Amino acid sequence: RKGKTPEDVVKRYLQKVRNPPEEDCTICMEALTGPSGYKGPGVGGVSRAESVGRLAQCGHQYHLQCLVAMYNNGNKDGSLQCPTCKTIYGVKTGNQPPGKMEYHVIPHSLPGHPDCKTIRIIYNIPPGIQSPEHPNPGKPFTARGFPRHCYLPDSEKGRKVLRLLLVAWDRRLIFSVGTSSTTGESDTVIWNEVHHKTEFGSNLTGHGYPDPGYLDNVLEELKAQGITEEDGQQL
Ligand code: APR
Ligand code: ZN
Repeated sequence: RKGKTPEDVVKRYLQKVRNPPEEDCTICMEALTGPSGYKGPGVGGVSRAESVGRLAQCGHQYHLQCLVAMYNNGNKDGSLQCPTCKTIYGVKTGNQPPGKMEYHVIPHSLPGHPDCKTIRIIYNIPPGIQSPEHPNPGKPFTARGFPRHCYLPDSEKGRKVLRLLLVAWDRRLIFSVGTSSTTGESDTVIWNEVHHKTEFGSNLTGHGYPDPGYLDNVLEELKAQGITEEDGQQL
């Protein structure tokens, strides 16, 4: 056996549970006191179907086989996210295709932020071929609407969001490959779960300013990806 198996990775974040509680595993919906209900591939070599583990930080409990199956269904980056409370173990990364992120300050104010200039972020991702971490490996993906321009106020909080977005970019969490909910096109580059403001002078689309809650919302979305202020300070 070479390197770390999915079971090794998952076990790193678990404490063994000898007497499981009279509760259901929320992954397979079967009792924790009985075997895992997971029937798919990929857990053949994994311990016993009865094994139960407790995630070390949040305390939520699951069948070991259910957690390994969940891990195998993701991008297998060595991290694990509790499906109940979203606590992240390890460093979560995504499957954003190769590209470029740039930013600069432009001498204009955003609606709702009259006292500062504006940071413009420019993302550029070219079309390409999907890799094994994407929905259809080997098949091409398209990339629409690039370069995509996004805006942040050049305020203390806006600059903090920028620092965290740079971390998210490095961890490949800004974009993904999948089906666009706006256009319905599949096998294309799409925004991941961190909202961006792509409209500059107004808010006709809902993706513009003013939006008083935006910076706090995006900080929450970054946190859900495991990116917090401590990450931003490393830059
Ligand atoms: N600007 C910013 N975010 C958007 C936009 C937009 N114009 N349109 C949708 N989103 C958000 C959605 O609210 C959702 O949360 O992106 C997320 C994913 O939506 P999809 O439609 O699946 O994403 P995508 O196809 O990448 O984006 C649609 O956004 O930036 C533009 O040029 C891009 O026209 C495209 C549009
Ligand atoms: Zn289970």
